[in-house]
Amino acid sequence: MNKIIIAIDGHSSCGKSTFAKRIAQELGYLYVDSGAMYRAIALALLRRNAISNGHIDPDALAEVLASSQVGFAADPASGSHITTLNGEPVEHEIRSPQVAAVVSLVAAQPEVRTLLTAQQQALGEQKGIVMDGRDIGTAVFPNAELKIFMTAAPEVRAQRRLRELQQKGQQLSLDEVLASVLERDRIDQSRTHSPLRQAPDALLLDNSHLSVEQQMQWVRGIIAQRTAQTAAHP
Ligand code: DC
Repeated sequence: MNKIIIAIDGHSSCGKSTFAKRIAQELGYLYVDSGAMYRAIALALLRRNAISNGHIDPDALAEVLASSQVGFAADPASGSHITTLNGEPVEHEIRSPQVAAVVSLVAAQPEVRTLLTAQQQALGEQKGIVMDGRDIGTAVFPNAELKIFMTAAPEVRAQRRLRELQQKGQQLSLDEVLASVLERDRIDQSRTHSPLRQAPDALLLDNSHLSVEQQMQWVRGIIAQRTAQTAAHP
């Protein structure tokens, strides 16, 4: 069976990883959360106290990039993949508010993007991969057979994020969460290096009013078509 590359980009909190994981599961493809890789580098920098007042120490950054191996390992407990930093499981730690507070700054560094983009491209060499992020269809896999750009209304994304935070026991108002969703959009879209953009050949998926199952119904036919096209023109 022919395998393709599926690149999923889009705004934060619009369900990219849930959708990407479901696709990978159905197809038996590898799923890679590229945001987790940026988060792992941010964690390595925080552990070295290399970030202060919105500034990253350049020597520490060079050392971290030379010595940090980000990977993914199977978690027998959950059956899903967990992120590792030099072999250590860090899935929980990379989701902390401390990492969330600095990861946009880390992801804006060209050296970080160059290194992680190369690692992400290596993961896709055999195809059969679903990767989600912000620049997968534009910079990592510009020749991906299927590119999807996901979005949802900011208010809908804020509601979803609020629910996630409440489940984690964090108490914030909807207005605060909406402000942070809009701020993340602004940062992702306005950075100089690989800003969040819809690739010209990406399909737009606005899931404001769609369930995951409805999104799966939409994408199944498209995947079948793209896979068949690849078989005809490898
Ligand atoms: O999707 P996420 O929230 O885990 O992403 C974490 C950060 O990394 C966020 O600031 C966007 C950035 N990112 C990126 O710049 N490029 C990617 N391919 C994936 C994430």
